[in-house]
Amino acid sequence: MKSSSLAAAAVAVALLLSVCVNGFDDQVSATKPLVKTVKGKKLCDKGWECKGWSQYCCNLTITDFFQTYQFEELFSNRNAPVAHAVGFWDFQSFILAAALFEPLGFGTTGGKLMQMKELAAFLGHVGSKTSCGYGVATGGPLAWGLCYNREMSPMQSYCDDFYKYTYPCSPGAEYYGRGALPIYWNYNYGAAGEALKVDLLNHPEYIEQNATLAFQAAIWRWMTPIKKSQPSAHEAFVGTWKPTKNDTLSKRFPGFGTTMNVLYGDQVCGQGDIDAMNNIVSHYQYYLDLMGVGREEAGPHEVLTCAEQLAFNPTTQASS
Ligand SMILES: *[C@@H]1O[C@H](CO)[C@@H](O)[C@H](O)[C@H]1NC(C)=O
Ligand SMILES: *[C@@H]1O[C@H](CO)[C@@H](O)[C@H](O)[C@H]1NC(C)=O
Ligand SMILES: *[C@@H]1O[C@H](CO)[C@@H](O)[C@H](O)[C@H]1NC(C)=O
Repeated sequence: MKSSSLAAAAVAVALLLSVCVNGFDDQVSATKPLVKTVKGKKLCDKGWECKGWSQYCCNLTITDFFQTYQFEELFSNRNAPVAHAVGFWDFQSFILAAALFEPLGFGTTGGKLMQMKELAAFLGHVGSKTSCGYGVATGGPLAWGLCYNREMSPMQSYCDDFYKYTYPCSPGAEYYGRGALPIYWNYNYGAAGEALKVDLLNHPEYIEQNATLAFQAAIWRWMTPIKKSQPSAHEAFVGTWKPTKNDTLSKRFPGFGTTMNVLYGDQVCGQGDIDAMNNIVSHYQYYLDLMGVGREEAGPHEVLTCAEQLAFNPTTQASS
């Protein structure tokens, strides 16, 4: 029994390695994780994609339900001649970036349906923030995600002197929007760089040179609360966040709507069905359809949108 499961693990590792080398083109079906039990909790390690003894690694991992061809469908025009980051974004970079966060629950929480929905939700945000689609664009306005990897004509260098002791701007560095969920400002580059152990404060340009890093910074933003007392977008989406009474009074329910509240606050939330919000929602719905989940799984209006929500961090009151 024991030796056969060890043999199976060895085969699984060999399979993963070959997939890694071959650019993830083949479906890895039912990869067997290494399993152990610690204090009654089942923990697993699945090698490169879900590493480090986590309960999340016992579940399906992202490549079990999301393949190259689906990435190509979702971002079908990203390498069109008119796109602005031709050749930059690819499936392999996304999967390598995701691998860092799968042991923490990214795309590995809940069952397969929730996992696919979280992927569609995260990528929906990415698609809408990096789109160059407009009304009459080929394939429709939603087919242009990952068209950009940086802000094209920044009007400033986004250096906030308030943070000069924690995150001092590097001479000559520009902290304009870059990445898959674009980050702006020295303090955001500083915080992301600390988390990813990359010197982004001195080298913000790394984000527009390295798609894996660009996706890592985006997934880090998705997985990390803006404030400790608040949920991350991930927690708000998968429902590991339990709203307080104040949250409920503020119409903040677990679901896609609250992810917009976490990431963008009153820029898009609490203003009714405005275009800025609808554009993000539409990308999410479009990806749910393309992934075969179906937009009806997105839930009712008050869960899907943040049209009626009060912001976690209102800008009007925060301004000094
Ligand atoms: C793993 O998947 C099962 C169902 O497929 C789910 O009930 C469970 O919550 C998942 N584990 C974690 C840690 O999310
Ligand atoms: C891109 O970033 C990843 C993640 O930080 C890193 O492992 C990799 O070496 C980088 N690639 C290049 C070419 O610098
Ligand atoms: C309740 O929510 C409002 C609006 O989001 C906020 O201004 C207020 O500080 C919150 N109160 C508590 C006790 O968290």
